[in-house]
Amino acid sequence: MSTSLFTPLAAANLTSMTVQYDWKSGSHKLSASREWPADRSFASYGAEFTAQDILTSDSHVIGTQEVTELFAQHGLTDYLDQVLELVAQGRHHGLKIFFHSEKDIRFICHQHSLLRGLRNKRQATLAGGIRRHEPSEPELEVIIDGLNLGRAMTFKNIAADLDFGGCKTTVQMPELDLNDMESLGFLAYCIDRSRTMTGPDMNFPTAMSDIINNHFSAQFTNGPSSPLGESGTPTAYGTYLALKEAVRFREGTASLDGKSVAVMGLGAVGWHLAELLAQEDVALFLADMRPEHISRFKKEHPNAAVEAVSADEVLFLDVDVICPAAVGGIISEDIIDRLNAKYIFGPANNQLRASSEDEEIRLAELLEKRGILFQTEWWYNTAGVMCGAEEYINGASASREKLYERIEATIPQKTRANLIEAQERGITPTENAYRTCHNLIYGDQ
Ligand code: PHE
Repeated sequence: MSTSLFTPLAAANLTSMTVQYDWKSGSHKLSASREWPADRSFASYGAEFTAQDILTSDSHVIGTQEVTELFAQHGLTDYLDQVLELVAQGRHHGLKIFFHSEKDIRFICHQHSLLRGLRNKRQATLAGGIRRHEPSEPELEVIIDGLNLGRAMTFKNIAADLDFGGCKTTVQMPELDLNDMESLGFLAYCIDRSRTMTGPDMNFPTAMSDIINNHFSAQFTNGPSSPLGESGTPTAYGTYLALKEAVRFREGTASLDGKSVAVMGLGAVGWHLAELLAQEDVALFLADMRPEHISRFKKEHPNAAVEAVSADEVLFLDVDVICPAAVGGIISEDIIDRLNAKYIFGPANNQLRASSEDEEIRLAELLEKRGILFQTEWWYNTAGVMCGAEEYINGASASREKLYERIEATIPQKTRANLIEAQERGITPTENAYRTCHNLIYGDQ
């Protein structure tokens, strides 16, 4: 494996590691431990043991000093420092790390802030999706992605008015086999240990939630058997409402009639967004790596004006709106000059290629200078987590009506208020959204 936090853990026969950062004092604490024996079977998690149990009589814990020495022995001092620096930069709470050595599953829960979930009376103090990365991906990139998304989740939960802190979980492992109860049990165990509730994010199948909830744990949401259906549908709807509000803010009417809109990615969210847009008099440009998805969309919407475009050209089209609906990090400094759209509003997370808040704010300013209306997505792509929370809190009696009421009551109003406030303050909507949340989390500004 390439440069990895898991190398020293594997060599020292350890299963777990915690990185904890205190942004008030600027100091961190580390611990690493052996918490279960190599032959521990996680397929029986929940039936034979719980997340509270001691799993071996041979447990072993090392503290900050020894962890630092262990990393030094493996020539990984600089790497560890780099990770600690990233955690500090985002003022994160830290990382919860678990390692399944036999299956080589590398689990990291990137925890940003617990604060808002501390008194919510639930097992999960945090909320954030779980996404899979290939084992071959460079770990530092996975960590950067996880930290950025975890940080955004804190703010997203505030925007959604939910009593949870924010985190994101990344897992480096091969594609999940839904019959592999060992891996599913392990993921359930790790999520429970991280005190987060979650829902499948990129590269994990939604079916994992149903299996895990039936067999192991109850911290997963948004599976096929959810009374609310898949979360992509409400997420698309919330984004659509936010876009209309942005158009109303700038043009005085929320109608999209006559506009051209490009949707980047026809996945679980993008597909539904394109469907909502197709109901209006809109010229749609669709990009997806899988051309058959676009053909299917055209077939199912024969009256819509749809044109397929390549992933390379979609960002630079001369259209009114661009809706990023797949991977993040697509708007980097060097492409901003070449954009032609008037609005960028889409459901994708982390649309700006930035690894700190300052960088995000700077890129948002560049977009504004180009006359593009952009508002950080975590302020409005909140319906997915609202859907997860409605199910997590109310279980089988989760209500679709309540969810949609919440979406309609929250997203347009918050978007409008943020756009107006930003204009009054002479700052970008992105910076204004951060300012609004900062006070709650850090007590500053
Ligand atoms: N993954 C969702 C997002 O990125 C959030 C979510 C968290 C959904 C927890 C369900 C459960 O917005």
